Amino acid sequence: MRLGILISGRGSNFEAIANSIARRKLNAEIAIVISNRANAAGLEIARERGIPLRVIASAGLEREAYDKLLIEELETHQADLICLAGFMRMLSANFIRAFPGRILNIHPSLLPAFAGLDAQRQALEYGVRITGCTVHFVDEYLDSGPIVIQSAVPVLEGDTVKSLSARILAQEHLIYSQAIGYIVDGRITVEGRRVSIREEE
Ligand code: GRF
Repeated sequence: MRLGILISGRGSNFEAIANSIARRKLNAEIAIVISNRANAAGLEIARERGIPLRVIASAGLEREAYDKLLIEELETHQADLICLAGFMRMLSANFIRAFPGRILNIHPSLLPAFAGLDAQRQALEYGVRITGCTVHFVDEYLDSGPIVIQSAVPVLEGDTVKSLSARILAQEHLIYSQAIGYIVDGRITVEGRRVSIREEE
């Protein structure tokens, strides 16, 4: 399976996926990494590893026009599965339609709680005792598609946004590759909002 990974920043989830592939825990290939920001640190990771990368700057472009460029680039590289990894843009309905059931996102909360920006801060300020992260299919709405995997972490006494984010991020790095693996192995069926994962054979 050929992955198209979309990033905007640090790229640690992309790096974790690349590591899973390098360690042969994930049977996939990264066809292309695309960033909408030229200064995304994740681009350096791609460069160092010789993974194809492309900057498609989004500033000043209308959503539809931008998404058209993204679709073209992903199709050129024959990406089968699109993985949003810290990609800080909403995607248009046209983009979602171009890759039906083939777009994943990772979000640093137990959805549907704390969708949107600064999910870790939202969780801390709300005072929840447990939060975590979610890998889900992407639909036209924000952080809202069918859920593939969630992992929970405790909120501890004295936590800051930084300490809580780090605890969540360690789980993100595990469950993103795991979710991609389920798709690669053809173990997933989606019915409405519910995702079933077949036992490993
Ligand atoms: C992660 O917390 C992810 O859940 C969220 O954006 C952050 C991206 O981090 N969508 P990185 O760029 O993968 O390091």
